[in-house]
Amino acid sequence: METFRLENKNIVITGASSGFGHHFSAVLAKAGARVVLGARRIDKIEARVAEIRAAGGEALGVTLDVRNNDSINNFLERAEQAFGPIDVVINNAGVQAGAKTYMMIDAADWDFVMETNLKSAWLMAKAYTERVVKNAQPGGNIINISSITDTRTIKGQFPYAVSKGALTRMTEVLALEAAKYRIRVNALAPGYILTDVSRLLLESDHAAEFINGIPMRRVGEFSDLDGPLLLLASDASSYMTGSVLVVDGGHICASL
Ligand SMILES: NC(=O)c1ccc[n+]([C@@H]2O[C@H](COP(=O)([O-])OP(=O)(O)OC[C@H]3O[C@@H](n4cnc5c(N)ncnc54)[C@H](OP(=O)(O)O)[C@@H]3O)[C@@H](O)[C@H]2O)c1
Repeated sequence: METFRLENKNIVITGASSGFGHHFSAVLAKAGARVVLGARRIDKIEARVAEIRAAGGEALGVTLDVRNNDSINNFLERAEQAFGPIDVVINNAGVQAGAKTYMMIDAADWDFVMETNLKSAWLMAKAYTERVVKNAQPGGNIINISSITDTRTIKGQFPYAVSKGALTRMTEVLALEAAKYRIRVNALAPGYILTDVSRLLLESDHAAEFINGIPMRRVGEFSDLDGPLLLLASDASSYMTGSVLVVDGGHICASL
């Protein structure tokens, strides 16, 4: 359907050096978007940019540390210089502290996870909104990559699950407050998909039992996220804001 196409849309993606962000960048470029990829490992970003360009897409890579406001502003500035006003921001960068409980983490673990997964989304939303206003853009679109751990989790995901619970709530509060700038804010909440964030659990001795608890009896594939991502990034979701799209094989319907 035409409304799902992304021609003439400029989309920036944080955490695009691996996992979801790496995958999303090519999916969005293939749907017609000009994509700007950000993360700390610039070698991986540049490799992905080269692949997208080789496939006929338009892409730019910029070093980005989402914990640093100057780095966020530089990322958005470079994106605008290259392609013009930004239509969609995808807050995807995220980290785990390892399989730790609240008794096992220290203050440095807390700050590392909260600054990367949560504070960054607010900093990015604020910097992006300033640009939407300055450019007199007709609107904007923010997609936060949350997680089903925002509502249901297992022991040993502290403070990751706390950060995702707050990120989902932030999505709703931002949607309320950003509507006056005609900026839509939605979240994608994936279940478990094998990446560096989930490897510890999905490659553990408990993995088979854990996967058995997912109604669809499998973990997700990257491609399971493509349709929901294109919905949120495109005009097909023009009346959606404050929504959380859960893509988890039914996992949150069962006890985790
Ligand atoms: N995998 C799952 O099962 C699952 C499920 C639900 C939600 N998620 C969420 O999906 C998102 C992507 O994670 P993933 O599973 O794809 O894991 P991943 O492969 O480890 O990707 C994480 C990405 O975040 C980037 N990143 C980390 N710290 C950063 C920082 N300070 N500044 C900029 N980029 C930073 C990393 O790049 P650099 O290290 O190069 O900076 C990397 O590209 C995360 O928000 C995660 O919580 C994952």
